[in-house]
Amino acid sequence: MCGIVGFTGNLPAAPLLLDGLHRLEYRGYDSAGIAVLENGKITTEKTVGRIKSLIDSTDNGKTVSGNIGIGHTRWATHGAPSLENAHPHLSGNCKFAVVHNGIIENYSTLRKELKNEGVKFLSQTDTEVVPHLLEKYYNGNLIEAVSKVVKMLEGSFALGIICTDYPDTLVAAKRFSPLILGVSDKGNILASDVTAIASLTKDIIYLGDDEIAVLTPDKTEVVDLSGKALEKEVSEITWDVSAAEKGGFEHFMMKEIFEQPKAIKQTLSGRIKNGEVVFEDFTLTADKLKGINRIVIIACGSAYHAGIVGKYVIEDMTRIPCEVDLASEFRYRNPIIDDETLTIVISQSGETADTLAALKEAKRLGSHVISIVNVVGSSIANASDDVIYTWAGPEIAVATTKGYSTQVSVMYLFAAWAAKHLGTKDDKYIADFLAEVKALPQKIEKILLQKDRLKEMAKRCVNTQSLFFIGRNLDYAVALEASLKLKEISYIHSEAYAAGELKHGTISLIEEDRTVFALSCYNDLADKMLSNIKEVAARGAYVITCANEGETEFEKESNQMIYVPKVHELLVASTEVIPFQIYAYYVAYHKGCDIDKPRNLAKSVTVE
Ligand code: G6P
Repeated sequence: MCGIVGFTGNLPAAPLLLDGLHRLEYRGYDSAGIAVLENGKITTEKTVGRIKSLIDSTDNGKTVSGNIGIGHTRWATHGAPSLENAHPHLSGNCKFAVVHNGIIENYSTLRKELKNEGVKFLSQTDTEVVPHLLEKYYNGNLIEAVSKVVKMLEGSFALGIICTDYPDTLVAAKRFSPLILGVSDKGNILASDVTAIASLTKDIIYLGDDEIAVLTPDKTEVVDLSGKALEKEVSEITWDVSAAEKGGFEHFMMKEIFEQPKAIKQTLSGRIKNGEVVFEDFTLTADKLKGINRIVIIACGSAYHAGIVGKYVIEDMTRIPCEVDLASEFRYRNPIIDDETLTIVISQSGETADTLAALKEAKRLGSHVISIVNVVGSSIANASDDVIYTWAGPEIAVATTKGYSTQVSVMYLFAAWAAKHLGTKDDKYIADFLAEVKALPQKIEKILLQKDRLKEMAKRCVNTQSLFFIGRNLDYAVALEASLKLKEISYIHSEAYAAGELKHGTISLIEEDRTVFALSCYNDLADKMLSNIKEVAARGAYVITCANEGETEFEKESNQMIYVPKVHELLVASTEVIPFQIYAYYVAYHKGCDIDKPRNLAKSVTVE
């Protein structure tokens, strides 16, 4: 997730672009840049880090003159945060400058083709193919060239483009990524969302998918990919613009809960091809994988819980023994690791000190290390042999939601990739499994519709002192995350228990009206769970059961039910966790807690 902005008009462009970028900074903030066109020449200014340093280095835009330009604030996906990878990107002949938000899924094929034709790439980004393609297909008509290039791109994108042959024309195009046009008598503007537009105008046009916008200082036209002019409605922004960065939600946490379908889609994008998983630039070869006799997964917090999901799925699909360890334990326990052990490290931030230290220890002992990380170019990513990025976009709320969900999705991809290369599952099984993985975002959308009901249900726990989550197998893995979510933001004591273990001591804590969440989506063990639910219900527990739609056998023993759509047995973590994220959010909400910044917690723990 990045932010883009563009302006053409009667005012100096750079200060407006910088102001817009500053407002879009919540969308990504690892590097930024602007390109301004004047007298047939494009000048770019870039920085690594926050927009503030770009504002300082250009004296708030005064050093870059010109009335037309584009800007970008980056959240790296392809290529680490660096000056070379910062946008705008230029064509080889410096005629075109481009900013991009989204992921171009077929960029590696396009890049290879262009390289074979002698094109020199200066960055590792997926974006850079666009200016080079524009140069290749431009024959004097910018709109035709943009239209041709857009047709070649797969994935999601919002593009802002300037060209030296068009001294006052700004062109934009989009597919699946947001882009809004602002219309004013001082000029016309485009941006990823209204926060960056509202200081200039409240009159906006929503650009549709596969539409091209052509902005000049006094005109905004929109055409389709065949060049046909489209009638677009101008609407007025009447709502509070400051809410836009939270997508209209009250807290980042809820915004991020609702971003999960998109974040998962993005994480899967380009990685499932013809019924199998492809990891670009992986150095772990199939041969090397065959020499691995054990997998160790290391992480902290929710990432550790994603690792536990991974253990169940990877062991089931590959039959390689898999253990999960807390990074803070692993690093001090003289671990048994050698070159036949594969280490998988999971971290949203890529900076967690214990995880980084554990990674280094595993490497020192000869293990190949794969990391699953959200922040491109982070310390953990840099220290690993291979990285699989979760393309979740920046996560602001301390309590992770989309970070966790995308980590779990990568676990599925890895398990399918390894099963294919080890031959432990046949091609049909893997293709069917991956088809179900791809269907997850749609099923999660459906669960999100239960928000209001969960809000009501959550009132029950406002005065609760202590409660339990129970489950078996993958349900247990989710119970751990559901319990952590609730306690970290609502400050209620909560324990997650393997349902079969409850009777070995903890059941003594079950008394009249004690809330017990029973997670029962993993079908193979439904009968066993039913017995465990009966055990606690018989002792007076108030049981709230989460089960798959249509599986009504738990209703008799439960006080309340939460249903989620049925998915492949190994994928239940992805659906089942969603209602508990929402439930935890609303318990904290009803209690008036500081949801996005819970007490005593930090988003990135860079100390031991
Ligand atoms: C902190 C956060 C947790 C997170 C953990 C690991 O404790 O509060 O939400 O799961 O760190 O963070 P990482 O960035 O390594 O995934």
